[in-house]
Amino acid sequence: MCGIFGMIGEHATGITLQALKYLEYRGYDSAGIAIKGHNGINIYKSVGRLHNLEKNLPNGLDSSIAIGHTRWATHGAVSTDNAHPFFSPDKCFAVVHNGIIENYQTLKKQFCSRGAVFTSQTDSETVAHLLQNNYSDSVFGTVLATANSLVGSFAIAITTAYDNNLYAIKNKSPLVVGVSDNGIYLCSDIRCVSHWASKVAVTPDKTVVVVGRNGAHFYDFNGNPIMVEFFTPERAEEMEQVDGDFMLKEIYEIPSKIRLAKAGYFRDGGLKIDAERIKKLSRIYLIGCGTAYNSGLQVASVARKYLDLDILPVIASEFIYDNYPVDGNTLALFISQSGETADTISAVERVRDKGGYTYAVTNTSSSSLRFKCDGFVNIYAGGEFAVASTKAYNCQLVTLLLIILDIARIRQTVSENEYIEIVNGIDKLPVAIDQILANSYEIARIAESVKDSSAVFYIGRTTDYPTACEGSLKLKEISYIHSEAYPAGELKHGTLALMEKGVTVVAIHTCDELSDKMSSSVNEVVARGASVISVGPGELADTSIILPDVHKALYGIVSVVPLQLLAYYVAKRLGRDVDKPRNLAKSVTVE
Ligand code: G6P
Repeated sequence: MCGIFGMIGEHATGITLQALKYLEYRGYDSAGIAIKGHNGINIYKSVGRLHNLEKNLPNGLDSSIAIGHTRWATHGAVSTDNAHPFFSPDKCFAVVHNGIIENYQTLKKQFCSRGAVFTSQTDSETVAHLLQNNYSDSVFGTVLATANSLVGSFAIAITTAYDNNLYAIKNKSPLVVGVSDNGIYLCSDIRCVSHWASKVAVTPDKTVVVVGRNGAHFYDFNGNPIMVEFFTPERAEEMEQVDGDFMLKEIYEIPSKIRLAKAGYFRDGGLKIDAERIKKLSRIYLIGCGTAYNSGLQVASVARKYLDLDILPVIASEFIYDNYPVDGNTLALFISQSGETADTISAVERVRDKGGYTYAVTNTSSSSLRFKCDGFVNIYAGGEFAVASTKAYNCQLVTLLLIILDIARIRQTVSENEYIEIVNGIDKLPVAIDQILANSYEIARIAESVKDSSAVFYIGRTTDYPTACEGSLKLKEISYIHSEAYPAGELKHGTLALMEKGVTVVAIHTCDELSDKMSSSVNEVVARGASVISVGPGELADTSIILPDVHKALYGIVSVVPLQLLAYYVAKRLGRDVDKPRNLAKSVTVE
């Protein structure tokens, strides 16, 4: 999975390289570009970040036709051989691909039995072989035949020695076509292409696109022309340069982004779902992946107090294939920072097919997820560039809580006083979080003792358990220290066996009424030799991070901040690349 870009127009090489920079969030295992010049197509590729490719490019490569790729490895190791673009054996076609070709092994076997030689272990190289194999005298016919031979999810851009068009094949993986006075673009993502395109179109599934100097034309897989609507995209904010790491900068932005999330929610008209529909609801799903899932977990644990219906957080990839009940009285909130996560997008279809109402909670108003859902709300966290999500999590919590409170208000399951108390309580969060940030040197000091831990366990009860999950996810994804989260009471049913000297336990305790129980859990692990860091309004261990007082329903938005900082400082002390951790991508666009 990956990011793809293609362009016909002035300065195609430079613009393609710049676009790959914007697309690096989709993978940074390798990058590559195919440039069409007078002497045919030339391919350049390098392992690692885009700057490795740029370093290795000869000067004077400008051209008016180029396709580029940034890779997150699925099939085949991280290597130059497995980096895109791929040539067909006769070098008359070059392709870049995002997605998974599910029937590639069958196709590859057929080609190999006829003597074809593959240079990579990828599924994507099969497309280049198919193109050469299918070629008669029309490239369009060749591309159509190739499209019909593929099974899976794919956004493929193709350049060919036979003519000066670009071709694309699209099914399930995102592909946006952009146009401007200077050129025509194919791209995995609207935000990226909006840097150049004045109009964009979201390509439907099972479409072939032909891009020539005079425009872009869309066809179904039978070759019939189809109409696709172009619109003016919202221009994406520039990726600013930072002195240090994006992650730390983004943590420090949390107070201001919380204000924007709340203001934006009300400015955009709040919930925007018909009150009659809300009254009839029997269940709400909160569906997402990674940090987005954890925000659903957190809000569900708070919402159970205020709602009289089933509220179920579900991991998107599980929701797709399990039999969670959905009917006309189901509301599914799809949470995704990027709005491009394939698992989350696929889960939408299941809810829609069964008549449920789908609602996107994302950080971009022009994402694929937004276009798939019946309703949409923006979390207004602003561009988030560190792979490990931080400020988006806090903004997701604010927005989701406002949604839940609006639903509770319509259903009359929250009192007006409590509604006002919580909504006003959000205004106090920025100051509370500023206090934590002002003491970050203290957390940096604690990180010094955590960095050599053999494992770190995060524990909490009820609304603190989701915070434990998010703290643990942050630590493992950027420090590579083994880490797990547990409901504190569950520890004694197995995991206690792992407690020994060298293990750190982070105990989150914001629920007053459970503080004795948390204290017992802490004693149990200390008795087995583990070191404990407590995070809460009081002290529960020798090392304690004290949280400022906020409304109970809002604690999760605050208590996660020291955990985000702790993960950051531990990873820094271990010399990790905190913004682009190994093996991960900001947005995973394959299932
Ligand atoms: C990837 C990222 C995670 C993120 C998850 C969901 O796995 O590495 O940090 O939480 O995707 O991303 P989304 O854009 O859907 O919120």
